[in-house]
Amino acid sequence: MDTEVLTRGHRAVPADNDPLWWRSAVIYQVYVRSFADGNGDGTGDLAGVRSRLGYLKDLGVDAIWFNPWYPSPLADGGYDVQDYRDIHPQFGTLAEAELLIQEALDLGIRTIIDVVPNHISDQHPWFQAALAAGPGSPERERFWFHPGTGENGDGMPTDWVSSFQGDTWTRTTDPDGTPGEWYLHLFTPEQPDLNWNHPDVRREHEDILRFWFDRGVAGVRIDSAALPVKDPALPPLGDTAHRPGEHPHLDRDELHDIYRAWRAVAEEYEGTRVLVGEVWLDDAERFARYLRPDEMHTAFNFDFMTQPWSTAALRGSIERTLAEHEPVGAPATWVLSNHDITRPVTRYGRADSAFAFARKRFGTPTDLERGTRRARAAALLTAALPGSLYIYQGDELGLPEAELPREVIQDPMHFRSGGVDPGRDGCRVPLPWAGARPPYGFSAADGADTWLPQPADWAPLAAEAQSADPYSMLSLYQEALRLRREVEDLRGEDLAWLELGADVLAFRRGERTVSVTNLGPVPVPLPAHRAVLLSSATQTDASARGILPPDSTVWLAL
Ligand code: NOJ
Repeated sequence: MDTEVLTRGHRAVPADNDPLWWRSAVIYQVYVRSFADGNGDGTGDLAGVRSRLGYLKDLGVDAIWFNPWYPSPLADGGYDVQDYRDIHPQFGTLAEAELLIQEALDLGIRTIIDVVPNHISDQHPWFQAALAAGPGSPERERFWFHPGTGENGDGMPTDWVSSFQGDTWTRTTDPDGTPGEWYLHLFTPEQPDLNWNHPDVRREHEDILRFWFDRGVAGVRIDSAALPVKDPALPPLGDTAHRPGEHPHLDRDELHDIYRAWRAVAEEYEGTRVLVGEVWLDDAERFARYLRPDEMHTAFNFDFMTQPWSTAALRGSIERTLAEHEPVGAPATWVLSNHDITRPVTRYGRADSAFAFARKRFGTPTDLERGTRRARAAALLTAALPGSLYIYQGDELGLPEAELPREVIQDPMHFRSGGVDPGRDGCRVPLPWAGARPPYGFSAADGADTWLPQPADWAPLAAEAQSADPYSMLSLYQEALRLRREVEDLRGEDLAWLELGADVLAFRRGERTVSVTNLGPVPVPLPAHRAVLLSSATQTDASARGILPPDSTVWLAL
């Protein structure tokens, strides 16, 4: 295939050409390895995605965000990038990615890709060159190489804490076999951190953005976006000593210049190319700084995502979110999960339904029926909120977190916790598409061994089985996204709370559309309305009788 022709011939924006598309977009997250397998090797690929674009169109999404699809040793599921300008051979080719971007655009679906500025793979040519060139070389200046502490240099240069538990520094070995310098990695040793004070690092990433924007990509999701800049003095972590913006490696003020430069690159292109930040920060004011008009367009709302199934907690988070976004004029995002997070059906079926990485354990008791009811209600609640909406693949099928046997787990979070944390593979299991047994249509080849095993009881959750059932999770999502597009009130950016009791979350959108969620243990009466637009409860007759069962959401037309 002639890549050049495709590149020159690409169309970069869909027919709608709406410059504000991102403010209320529905963005579907594709974890390529586990979406659909076109070549029958048990791993998802671009051919698989291309064959399922019709499904995404029918679901009603505006854009797809692809997790990293680049060549990578997959030490961290692809967040260890070896080459930013190509596609992992297991997934396909660059030419195929270009085709996929165009085919999606033809269906009105934009593509967002993942960029990972904080670190690269230890197999990336830059890091290999740095290892070979040795201490004091210019090649090492693109990273954080440093002598160790203590007489023999065998102490780590800092006491910084890894996002993945375990050490943040690894010692190198010099060519003569003696222990050498250490290098910094906030994640695994296979993910050395880049030095963002180095002009090569800045230039390279701006070039990478252009490389993909030139190919019709509509935006980038920025991985670990609050981490890339480090204090070059490498001070100790301390505890309360750091003022906001002065932590040695989190949320440093210098980051904003980087994202301003990225925004300027995005603005060079037609059709609004967006920057979406993965910004984990507790401080709402610091979070909002990333969303100033000349920086990122939006950032993931982890505050909302981590809340338990509780009226006060969810309402508090929605209020905080809207208040913190308002001064910078950025729309909120609503996220229930992603490839790092316990699936909602499982999380909401547990006694502790909040999410925290540190709290994940094997064998946590789970009531999946209750979790599914709540996940249905949460799907409608989030789809009714003003802003953009993210759907992680498989949540629209109501997949639970799979409890995988230890011997098949690949996620480094599991290993770095000493085997205590099951890790994130339970939400990354290949999707069930059709049929009675694994691989449930995931792989073109029947009997293919999927890269993670699928549970034996997933046949009823397969997309084909659900599409025939008007009360399935898939039908609920389809209908919700259809109404979100068609009901004008849901496209606006306003929200007015309605006070319907301590267990009820209710708000009006526009003049005539209301969303009511009952989080309590008993049914509640619905406010006066003209019609029920959609209900997450499968006992549909209940809303006809004017009541809302526990753990359900209804959309009403007034
Ligand atoms: C956040 C990503 O979502 C996660 O999957 C990854 O492991 C880390 N960043 C490191 O890149």
